[in-house]
Amino acid sequence: MGKVILFASGKGGVGKTTLTAGIGFALADLGKKVLLIDADIRLRNLDLVLGAHDRTIYDIQDIYFGRCKEEMAVLASTSHPGLHFLSAPLVLTEDSGKMYSFIRDYAVKKTSSYDYVLVDCPAGIDPDMKNMFCRKVGLICVATPDIASVRDAEKVAYEASDEGVTYIRLVVNRVSKKAMRRNKSPDIDEVIDGTKIQLIGLVPEDRYAAYAVNIHKPLFDIKKSHARITFTNIAKRIDGAEKSLYKKF
Ligand SMILES: Nc1ncnc2c1ncn2[C@@H]1O[C@H](COP(=O)(O)OP(=O)(O)OP(=O)(O)O)[C@@H](O)[C@H]1O
Ligand SMILES: [Mg+2]
Repeated sequence: MGKVILFASGKGGVGKTTLTAGIGFALADLGKKVLLIDADIRLRNLDLVLGAHDRTIYDIQDIYFGRCKEEMAVLASTSHPGLHFLSAPLVLTEDSGKMYSFIRDYAVKKTSSYDYVLVDCPAGIDPDMKNMFCRKVGLICVATPDIASVRDAEKVAYEASDEGVTYIRLVVNRVSKKAMRRNKSPDIDEVIDGTKIQLIGLVPEDRYAAYAVNIHKPLFDIKKSHARITFTNIAKRIDGAEKSLYKKF
């Protein structure tokens, strides 16, 4: 039985989509069968970050309405065997609460054929989005080292836990050692204390992140990317390996 993991955050733009893609590639490269679902049903982006936008024709709303066969909407990666992707709709026509419930049930159902189903969620926790939370899913809360994002992450974790989610982990993205040394950002211990969530990974500030999207290449495939190694470390921890958190991110 595979696992469903939602990537969520309180604050927007903290890196959920970047991490869903990066950790998805890393899990696939570890030999896992992975399905990535874009659940940002109003502002989809995962297709771009995966470099799959020109192959994305059908989406999860088409499956919902029975407008296509599942195989037509679920794309297999051409470069990373084991990785699959299901897009969010370009235009949402169904009620969002119903769509989130459908995505949750679909993701849980797919654990019978995938090792991991990673779900890229929209920012925040509007009441409809909370339909995604249930005891059958795990949550990776993404925060950046700033106090607004930390406070919002704590709130998301609290809401998820209230809905029965038990596996909740924190990834701090865009960590800059330089900024921390200069006291320009809270240090990691302050972030963990602020969110009260167990840390599963730190991802450094990476100057190739935006560039990768602009050239339609996954960040994971850019060898010079500093975030790349941390995606693999987080993937290994998700998969149960014990890897030091602080020594080398
Ligand atoms: N580690 C990083 N270093 C530098 N830039 C990053 C990093 N992670 C993400 N970014 C950049 O931050 C921006 C937002 O990232 P992303 O779209 O993944 O965030 P998000 O949380 O999914 O946003 P939204 O809430 O809008 O869905 C993008 O321009 C991305 O390239
Ligand atoms: Mg996003």
